[in-house]
Amino acid sequence: MTGRTSLTIVLAAGEGTRMRSSLPKVLHPVASQSLLAHVLHAVPNGTGAATAVVIGPNHEDVAAEARRVRPDAATYIQRERLGTAHAVLAAREAVARGADDLLVVFGDTPLISPVTFERLRAPLKNGATLAVLGFRAADPTGYGRLVVEGDRLVAIREHADATPAERAITLCNAGVMAFDGHRALEIIEKIGHANAKGEYYLTDAVTVVRDLGLEAVVIETSEDEVRGINTKAQLAEAEQVMQARLRKAALDAGVTLIAPETIYLAADTTFGNDVTIEPFVVIGPGVSIADGAVIHSFSHIVQASIGRHASIGPYARLRPGTALGEGVRIGNFVETKAATLEAGAKVNHLSYVGDAHVGERANIGAGTITCNYDGFSKHKTTIGKGAFVGTNSSLVAPVKIGDRAYVGSGSVITKDVPDDAMAVERSPQTNREGGAARYREMKTRGKTPKSG
Ligand code: UD1
Ligand code: MG
Repeated sequence: MTGRTSLTIVLAAGEGTRMRSSLPKVLHPVASQSLLAHVLHAVPNGTGAATAVVIGPNHEDVAAEARRVRPDAATYIQRERLGTAHAVLAAREAVARGADDLLVVFGDTPLISPVTFERLRAPLKNGATLAVLGFRAADPTGYGRLVVEGDRLVAIREHADATPAERAITLCNAGVMAFDGHRALEIIEKIGHANAKGEYYLTDAVTVVRDLGLEAVVIETSEDEVRGINTKAQLAEAEQVMQARLRKAALDAGVTLIAPETIYLAADTTFGNDVTIEPFVVIGPGVSIADGAVIHSFSHIVQASIGRHASIGPYARLRPGTALGEGVRIGNFVETKAATLEAGAKVNHLSYVGDAHVGERANIGAGTITCNYDGFSKHKTTIGKGAFVGTNSSLVAPVKIGDRAYVGSGSVITKDVPDDAMAVERSPQTNREGGAARYREMKTRGKTPKSG
């Protein structure tokens, strides 16, 4: 909405006791992202759009999450939980600055979309003083009921205070409101606490607005968009709704999901063209998948970038810091972590590649382990381009395997292997020539190993 400034206040001071968790409620994840982050991504952003988050005392981690997502967000502490209107006034200083539109949203409503804020702001432009987001609840128990006369909103009655006739109303308060920012402070300061809970209800703003002879209206949305999270069961329901959205968005963008309902995506997953994801794949935060890549079944991927035409799994585990170049192949029961694999590298079976750099077209045989940890620190393994590491080898880091070097199967490599060199390092009992003899013979004929 060009031209109008806004202040969005996100209320997140609740303890969330019904989550039965030591983690503050708004930090629980949906699609690998905190509830608070979802809300902060949806609220107005950019020039003229300010954000404030109201948090509880001792919730420094909530403030940190707010700053991580929206570095420009101001945080305010509500020292006592005296109700939603009281919570807004914790940010009084920001409200008093008088943005054109004052928006209030709850931090535990992660499914809200940016367009809904625009819809809610539209009536303000046309002279309304307050716009309230409403929805038809399948079960309205516990929600504030919207009492309307014609197209005017006259009151919001909290469940605890409602008469039986009011409880029969299914049009409910979603908790998102837009105020004329120049009148908001005056209105919210008039709210009292004469109600069943003795709290300062933000919902009473409707009656204040009406008593001032001003206009309050309702904008309706779907129940799915405004599901509030109070329990782990509701968190799981929101996850379902969010996953359905993410899968649909991926399909719409051209990603092939063979069995969409079995695939878990993160809110920030990005896809190139012609990506295929087979059934039962779990994708956590920070994953990008480039054009033509295929993710085979039962793979688990977190904080990894997957190059064009790469093939992952089945049963692969890509951990944080994995970067795979074009055409890389990661096969079954392979785990990678903090590992860069350049174009064409292959790790096809049963390996651990951690704290490693693997050069172009290197071939890592089955059962190869980068021994990155000595019990004290992590060390790096570097494998050169075109190198061939035979099966069941342990590369004891820090160690460097040169370009085109050859490591005989079953080796325990503790010293660097120069470019083009061959290393067969086995315990005396197992120190037989094996594939190395073949390698020598082939080399004398001017042939080099191909990746398998
Ligand atoms: C609120 C609404 C109700 C609406 C429902 C939608 C009021 C009075 N009631 O009820 O009409 O149908 O949400 O889910 O607004 N909070 C604070 N400080 C406080 C109190 C609350 O920060 O002192 C925050 C909570 O953390 C939460 C939000 O405000 O994020 C809503 O509070 P909650 O207690 O969940 O209100 P409901 O009873 O659900
Ligand atoms: Mg609630």
